[in-house]
Amino acid sequence: MGRTAKEIVKANIQEVISDLNKAYADEWLAHYQYWLTSQWIRGMDADTLKQVLLRQSADELMHAEILANRIIQLGGTPVMQFDKLITTAQCGYKEPPSDPANLKQVVQDVLEAEACAIESYNQLSEKYRETDIVTKEIFEDLLEDEVKDEEEWEKLGANLV
Ligand SMILES: [Fe+2]
Ligand SMILES: [Fe+2]
Repeated sequence: MGRTAKEIVKANIQEVISDLNKAYADEWLAHYQYWLTSQWIRGMDADTLKQVLLRQSADELMHAEILANRIIQLGGTPVMQFDKLITTAQCGYKEPPSDPANLKQVVQDVLEAEACAIESYNQLSEKYRETDIVTKEIFEDLLEDEVKDEEEWEKLGANLV
């Protein structure tokens, strides 16, 4: 990162990197959870859910990419070991339901992950509002995406038989 870009960050850079890494881990876990669930589920409405899970899984990976780039830009290191993703994440990982036809559980688990992401990004964009505008913008953009995700899943959940 350039000299001026560094100067405008008023927040503690290590703390920013740590917050970005927590979000990075959560995005990776959401990406994996949604993708694996899309492969696993069966049943009446499974095809619709599968398409949405695949699309959102790709979105979460894109979120991870944005966060990784900001971490690197700030001179930090994105989580390098796979098992550290679990311990670094805040929202965590829910494995797909043991019954692949339990689509209600799928919706509930995704809604839980999205709610946690929304709360976390809301808090983080507030936290860096005045001390790191670039990072704040990233958290804000991701917040907007997760708000849309939650809405989509609430509708899907309401339409499940
Ligand atoms: Fe995300
Ligand atoms: Fe999401």
